Amino acid sequence: MDNERITSAGIKTGEQRQEAGLRPQYLADYIGQQSAKENLKIFIDAARLRGEPLDHVLFYGPPGLGKTTLAGIIANELGVDIKITSGPAIGRAGDLAAILTNLNENDVLFIDEIHRLNRSVEEVLYSAMEDYALDIIIGKGPSARSIRLDLAKFTLIGATTRAGSLSAPLRDRFGVISKFEMYTTEELKKILARTAGILGVEVDDESLTEMARRSRGTPRVANRMLKRIRDFSQVRGNGIIDINITREGLNALGVDELGLERIDREILRAIIERFNGGPVGVDTIAASIGEERVTIEDSSEPYLIQAGLLYRTQKGRMVSSLGYKHLGIEMPEDREE
Ligand SMILES: Nc1ncnc2c1ncn2[C@@H]1O[C@H](COP(=O)(O)OP(=O)(O)O)[C@@H](O)[C@H]1O
Ligand SMILES: [Mg+2]
Repeated sequence: MDNERITSAGIKTGEQRQEAGLRPQYLADYIGQQSAKENLKIFIDAARLRGEPLDHVLFYGPPGLGKTTLAGIIANELGVDIKITSGPAIGRAGDLAAILTNLNENDVLFIDEIHRLNRSVEEVLYSAMEDYALDIIIGKGPSARSIRLDLAKFTLIGATTRAGSLSAPLRDRFGVISKFEMYTTEELKKILARTAGILGVEVDDESLTEMARRSRGTPRVANRMLKRIRDFSQVRGNGIIDINITREGLNALGVDELGLERIDREILRAIIERFNGGPVGVDTIAASIGEERVTIEDSSEPYLIQAGLLYRTQKGRMVSSLGYKHLGIEMPEDREE
């Protein structure tokens, strides 16, 4: 199950509270995402100077890259409250109306998985975003009439793993759209060093590098890895994390040199062995290894592509020569790259 994998970028049950303690609170502690950060800093300063709400912001990118964290930071930097909810949690238009009418001037409303809002809720959001107003229909049939309710000016921050699934009218109402990139090994090392400091665990530099390299460019994975390795070091060692403990721990967890786990290797192997390296559609891959399509698309694929092991063509997914090499399988000569 996806929830048991150490490298799945999605959040696991029970992990929320632990993560909260590791979240940086201000921009200065937020490592990486340089371009998004620099732009936001200017917009935040400008909004503060004018005493106006920040423009609506959309964050998109794979899970675990710091979207929720950055939303919290924006509210802190603006000195306003943040209300956190998610697309699936807002079932009806009335639920959204209740949330919106409770916001104070310049507050931040964070909607995670905003691509999963249903249509009727989304439509209420349009006028709220555009005019800070709610159009409410009172009554039924011929006597029905619409009244307009003014809202406090607020900032909507939406987050999604799939910008492509967002409807155009919703997307167009965001003034700032930021794409989240995977982190470099150096950035992940800094994040890990910071987390180690918070957890009060001693880690040498080589181990930080090793964990950073195998974390698939994802802070959530890096932090989780550090916690597991800390467990190893306490049970098998003296509580200090060195490279031997790190390697032993990662091997025991089934995380390979590139940060791949069993399911990632299974995907590559299935494409190679059953579909001659591709191209093959993602549904077919999912069926052939008995996993869900979303697990493949959200958790495995972004990193396999980023690492250059897999690529996407119009006809489907193909394993690259690097992918063959990583599994130690020779690439057939008749297969074109
Ligand atoms: N830039 C960063 N600097 C430090 N820690 C980070 C950063 N980005 C993410 N993290 C850590 O990674 C974890 C996951 O981040 P989160 O914001 O929940 O990701 P997302 O919302 O994109 O899934 C958090 O616990 C946070 O502490
Ligand atoms: Mg999140």
